[in-house]
Amino acid sequence: MNSSSPPKNIVLIGFMGCGKTTVGRELNKRLGYPLIDMDQIIEERAGKSITRIFAEEGEPAFRDMETDLLRELSQPDNPRRIISTGGGIVGRQENRELLHMLGYVVWLNAPRETIIARTLKHKTRPLLNTENPEDRITRMMAERHPLYAESAHLEVDTTGLSSREVAAGLLESARYYFAKPE
Ligand code: S3P
Repeated sequence: MNSSSPPKNIVLIGFMGCGKTTVGRELNKRLGYPLIDMDQIIEERAGKSITRIFAEEGEPAFRDMETDLLRELSQPDNPRRIISTGGGIVGRQENRELLHMLGYVVWLNAPRETIIARTLKHKTRPLLNTENPEDRITRMMAERHPLYAESAHLEVDTTGLSSREVAAGLLESARYYFAKPE
């Protein structure tokens, strides 16, 4: 890859509970590219969980950490990676632009009921720690859908598919995308 080629990362975006982490692991197994889980890196660097970052430093501080990490990942000399993002990464215009330049951006979309069932099982998401998380999910999904659509090169409807099936389909389409002449 010469220095002017666009990076060939696969970037997973989508709402909380859409399967970014499990599909990311599956892609990592199949491709052998390192898996970068942005939430995990932020937690390791901060030395505390996302719940604690939100509680002690506030959401804007967390969003700054996300943007800083995205800028870092956008440095040109990095190898190919699979990058799994947090669901709110698309909130900032700068992030959406950075995402698009990072590689092949895939939006994993899942039905509201699936998202609700998956996310409400665990209490690890501070934004859903409210009186009516289902209502919150509905509103946030509606707000974010156009932003995911704007950021992604591909939307995958994961309804009824296993993470292996999603990964297999996504890889086919990524190969085609990266093979296109620039
Ligand atoms: C968030 C999603 C979470 C995490 C944080 C905020 C969001 O990541 O980054 O709790 O704003 O949707 P996941 O999408 O991996 O749950």
